[in-house]
Amino acid sequence: MREPAKRLENRRIALGITGSIAAYKSVELMRLLQKEGADVRVLMTPSAVEFVGTLTLETLSGHPVDTDVLSLGVDGRIGHIAAANDVEAIVVAPATAHWLGAMAGGLASDAVTAACLATSVPVVVAPAMDGGMYGHPATQANVARLREFGYRLVEPESGVLASGMVGRGRLAALERIVDATVEALSGRPGATPADRPPAAAELAPAAVEFAAAVEPAPNRGDLAGFHVVVTAGGTAEPIDPVRFVGNRSTGKMGIAIAENALDRGAAVTVVLGHVSVEPPARAHVVRAETAAEMQAALRALTPAEGPRFDVLVMAAAVADFRPRSPSATKIGRFTGLTLEMDATPDLLAETAERVRTGVRASGARRPILVGFAAETGSFDRVSEKLRAKGVDMLVANDVAEPGSGFGTDTNRVTIYAIDAPPEELPVLSKREVAKLLLDRVFVRLAVADGGTPGGGAPAAKTTTRGDSAGGQTAAAEAAERAELGR
Ligand code: CTP
Repeated sequence: MREPAKRLENRRIALGITGSIAAYKSVELMRLLQKEGADVRVLMTPSAVEFVGTLTLETLSGHPVDTDVLSLGVDGRIGHIAAANDVEAIVVAPATAHWLGAMAGGLASDAVTAACLATSVPVVVAPAMDGGMYGHPATQANVARLREFGYRLVEPESGVLASGMVGRGRLAALERIVDATVEALSGRPGATPADRPPAAAELAPAAVEFAAAVEPAPNRGDLAGFHVVVTAGGTAEPIDPVRFVGNRSTGKMGIAIAENALDRGAAVTVVLGHVSVEPPARAHVVRAETAAEMQAALRALTPAEGPRFDVLVMAAAVADFRPRSPSATKIGRFTGLTLEMDATPDLLAETAERVRTGVRASGARRPILVGFAAETGSFDRVSEKLRAKGVDMLVANDVAEPGSGFGTDTNRVTIYAIDAPPEELPVLSKREVAKLLLDRVFVRLAVADGGTPGGGAPAAKTTTRGDSAGGQTAAAEAAERAELGR
């Protein structure tokens, strides 16, 4: 006799578990979804973890469990955003009264709500709670709101509840939740196995110092699923508690790059030095006042097990010298001052080296590295700088030229690349420069992803793209745009 067809064959489903006693049934629900052929990854609210252990779910799903809205995967992607982009449906079961309220209000304080907010895939919700709670007008209003979002509600059933009382609030029979998931996905084309996210063996446990409180991307642009790190602003090297050695950087160029990356759907971390403009609220911001702090931030992003980003744009003006012995107390004016300075380490070159070593260790795809070169008068040194720093591209500008460089809203840059002749751009707004630069970065990412604009380069091992199905087209489009921009 032939086996019945699996109704969720190769479907990628996120199972969101919230803090109800019925959470123990989620393990069985996951098994049923898997029996239908689904690849299930689990997201949990902190209170759900009180009811059912992550080890069980991690072992049975074969994926790390995301319990923390602030967590980054080792691939540098934000856990709930990665889930939102990688899956084809989200099933929230059980959904507590609290969770329904948070979701109805769009309050993304846990990984499950955040993933639902960030996704555009169907969401199935199976509430479970005390009968009185479910019947309360507040809960009913929240349920109605979720229906307005287009969510598929699997009504709870009547029966004996955890309290021993009888009422309507018991989690729906698991088969009904599976059926609702199948219905939610019917008519939606499935993904191929090649589009699947990396299995557990490819992902280390989420031991991450770099938590990202990043708002969901407004759209799924060509950089969705990529983690872009931008350093912006100048560093300030202390002389004493009051004075510092700084530079004229305002951070405008770096912030414009961060904004463009966010607009295109990337998760963005800004390593922020001294700036005179606000960083975008949607980015995760790591403050780094000094070269030493910036170095620490970059080191944390490039651990031995591999870099935690897909793209680094080093737009910061890192001080080249710092006072050798900053004074712990304010230096009086009448003592006079002679400063002894030491050269700072080249953070970009160091990071490029750490990336190379980490990539060799982890086998992951090499991120794209971009630096800036602030020159005065000529670009003679830029090609050598590009090689010495070991990066893919250097964006050179003549900071002595009017309309180019520090503090202005415009910039005139020449983009140097390891594998292409220098590309001279006209005076453009910093926003336009940011866009053209990221177009070129995207082409490089697409080539590494196998979506070869030039055609034919072998696919390297990649971080999973959120928009994998559209990757090739998007790559080709970006290649075209980049060509047009030349
Ligand atoms: N940079 C860095 N660490 C430093 C100095 C610069 O990482 N200590 C980075 C900058 O962020 C920029 C690139 O290196 O992306 C080039 O910076 P630039 O000041 O033009 O070059 P330097 O290496 O400092 O060389 P020089 O001062 O001789 O021009």
